[in-house]
Order: sequence, then C-alpha cells, then structure tokens
Amino acid sequence: MDSIWIKGGKTLEGDIPISGAKNAALTLMPCALLTEEKLTLTNLPRLADVDTFAHLLNQLGVSTHVAGVKKGEVGRRMTLEADEIVSTVAPYDMVRKMRASVLVLGPMLARMGEATVSLPGGCAIGDRPIDLHLKVLECMGAEIELAAGYVKASAPRGGRLPGGDFSFPVVSVGATENAVMAAVLAKGKTQLFNAAREPEIVDLCNLLVAMGAKIKGIGSAHLIIEGVEGLNGTTYEVMPDRIEAGSYACAAGITGGSLNLIGARPEDMQATLNALAQAGLMIEFHDKGIKVSANGGLKPLALSTSPFPGFATDMQAQFMAMLAMAKGDSFLEETIFENRYMHVPELRRMGADVDIHGRSAIVRGVEQLTGASVMATDLRASMSLVLAGLAAEGETEVLRVYHLDRGYERLEEKLSAVGATIERRTAG
Ligand code: EPU
Repeated sequence: MDSIWIKGGKTLEGDIPISGAKNAALTLMPCALLTEEKLTLTNLPRLADVDTFAHLLNQLGVSTHVAGVKKGEVGRRMTLEADEIVSTVAPYDMVRKMRASVLVLGPMLARMGEATVSLPGGCAIGDRPIDLHLKVLECMGAEIELAAGYVKASAPRGGRLPGGDFSFPVVSVGATENAVMAAVLAKGKTQLFNAAREPEIVDLCNLLVAMGAKIKGIGSAHLIIEGVEGLNGTTYEVMPDRIEAGSYACAAGITGGSLNLIGARPEDMQATLNALAQAGLMIEFHDKGIKVSANGGLKPLALSTSPFPGFATDMQAQFMAMLAMAKGDSFLEETIFENRYMHVPELRRMGADVDIHGRSAIVRGVEQLTGASVMATDLRASMSLVLAGLAAEGETEVLRVYHLDRGYERLEEKLSAVGATIERRTAG
C-alpha cells in the first residue's frame, strides 16, 4: 500500500495552484441526472471520489466522458449525459465507499419519480445519519420506505413531487443539496429555511440556474425554488477548493514559509483567513489568488467550528497541526461532528501536546515536532499529519494514502514544487 514520505524542516515558498473543489464536484455531478441533455463540467479535480462518483452515475445509466482541456481551462473536463436512466438504485457497495453517493437521491427522485439508496451506515468522523435528507423530501411530498438497509423514496403515483416548505432543525450541507436538486423539477414551489449556505451550495444553485432552474435567495439560508417542467444541459466550471487552499495556507504557517494560493477565492474562506491572520500570518490578495506568509512566530487561537460562514469543520485538523507549534495554548471546539479528533493520538506521537475534553481540545504549543510513522482514518485528519510532517524534525511516513487521494489532487507534486521533500512510496 502506498505511503507519503516526508523529510521535514523545509520552508515552503512559491505558487500552489488550487484545484476544483471536491465537495462542489460531488454535488454538481449528480445534476446530470436532472436532464436528458449533456452537462459538461470543467475544472473537475482528479480525485478518487470524483472517479467513484462517475462510476456510480455510470451504473445508473449516465455516460461520462473525460476530454482534453480546452485552451484557458484548468483541471479536467467531463461531459455527463443521462438520456436514459437504466437504474434508480444506489447500491450499498457504492454508498459504503463514498457517503456522498446519497446525493443521487434527490435528483433521481425528481427525474424518475423514485429512487432507492442504501443507508450509509457509520463513518470515521461520526454517526452522520441521513434523517434530514428524508424529512425534507417527505415535506416535499415524497413517500419514504425503509427496508433491508435501503431507503426507497417515491413521488405520488411515480410522477413529479408537489414541493413544500421545510425548516432544517440543524444545518446540513448534504440534505440542503438533495432538497434543492429534488425541488428544481417539482410541480410547485419549495421553500427551505435554515438551509446550508456553504459556497458549494451556491455553486450548485448557480449550475442549476444555468440549466434553467428558478431559485431565489442563493447564498442565503432561505431558498425559494419554483419547480420547472424540464432542465437543459450546459457547461459549468467547478469552483476552487477552499479547503485545499486553507490546508496549504496552514502549510505556509507551520513551515514559516510563504505560499501563493493561485485561484483561491477570498470570499469563500473569510473565517479561515481571519483565523490565519489572528495566528500571526500575513494575508495578501492579488488578482491571481491569495498569498499567505509567516511573519514571526505562530500565535495561539481559540476556534470553534460552525456552518458557513463560520470556521469550517473541514479545517479543524489542519489548524490543530499548525497550532501544535504556536507560542502558547490554543483552544479548539468541534461542534459539527462528534468524532473528529482522530488525528490527535497520531499528532501526539509526533510530539504534539493535545488534551481532549469531549468536544473541546487544548493544544499546548511545542518548540518542535518529530517525525514518525502515522496514519489517520479520514481525509482532513490525514492532511493534518502531512502538515505536521512538513515541519517535524526527521522523517514522517503517512500511511493509508487512499484518504488523501480522495481529496487532495497531486499533493506530493504540489508540495515538492514549493520546496518540500516529499514523495509517494509504494510498499513491496
Ligand atoms: N446530520 C444529521 N442528519 C442528516 C444530515 C446531517 O443529523 O440527515 C448532521 C451530521 O451528522 C453532522 C451535521 O448534521 O453532525 C452536519 O452534516 P452535513 O449534512 O452538513 O455534512 P455532509 O453533507 O455529510 C459535507 C461535506 C463534509 C463536511 C460537511 C460539513 C461533502 C461531500 N461533504 O458533509 O466534508 O465536513 O459537509 O461542512 O460535501 C470532507 O470534505 O472531508 C468532509 C467530510
């Protein structure tokens, strides 16, 4: 199995191109199910999760064609065409591999009047139920049945959903995405209150509007969607990955370097940038992106995760790695997922001084981390170990690279280009 090997202690300097956003890609791709016409996505990142999603869509009858990029385009260009849906079932072996598979539920229900999706089961970062996905669809007129580990949703008489109003008791990115994708082809109007307003949801709504959907309130917590008879195909560019950009900003911080995040959009990552500035980093905006530079030692922080526009849970592990080397004690609180400190025991093995009390963590800054063989059980936790390895004295080997391959495109290539000593090693 591959691992990422790092010899720490290099100061990173230079340009890092930011790829298309994984979590946007995973909600834009299922929109292909909403039309018989071709949907072309550009700036798609080359990631294992994108390939897994394409594979799931293929099983449902969607053809996916990857073409060479055109002049001026970045990333990958994929054309998806769902002229005929051959199956309305997302099987367990797909959903188990990738929870985002559940995002075919809304669009399949909208287009076909029915959808059957395996219940996802547990996950490394927490329980992560899909009750809100089901409740909002029910409010829009769907009938929901649970049997043998699967959920079957159907519209009345297999036709179109009536649409309806729903107020989310908890902000959910995925449930908002499923509801929006189901609502665009409903017979009537849908209003979503306390909807998630992450930039990836804005990207989803913008794509759907380009396909002919009627959505008001984009970017707010109150979305009003007027169903239409049909949607057209289009060509759409996936937004830049704000979490990838934030992760590399932490790489600049932890190595005392200076990185230009090419293509990063400041408006998508205000909370991350504020936290970086409070940690003592210098942030500069330019026409190509954001420059993040160390400016003296790292200062400790108090951070609590919350839905957008708050500080993203997907940045918590990377900040913890960086703050492990700050001058003083930091306080972190994880409010979104109940089990998102899986990186802590591994960071401790590298010399970090971290105590966990329920949802809170106290990180006492140390002078130096030391390299070790480490592994993590999820994507962002794995990235925090890479960051620690970049700054640590000696060699670090991050095992279970498949987590990183799900969400960081060409990680070792991007980091070596800015001065890191890092390579992928294949065991055996
Ligand atoms: N929740 C429920 N019921 C539901 C849905 C969610 O209780 O039906 C709870 C969850 O258990 C969690 C909270 O609500 O405690 C928020 O979950 P949310 O639905 O917002 O998360 P998600 O849609 O499953 C997406 C991202 C995650 C990211 C979260 C929060 C994708 C594919 N995944 O997950 O990304 O952490 O939003 O921002 O978009 C990652 O990229 O590493 C990652 C985990």
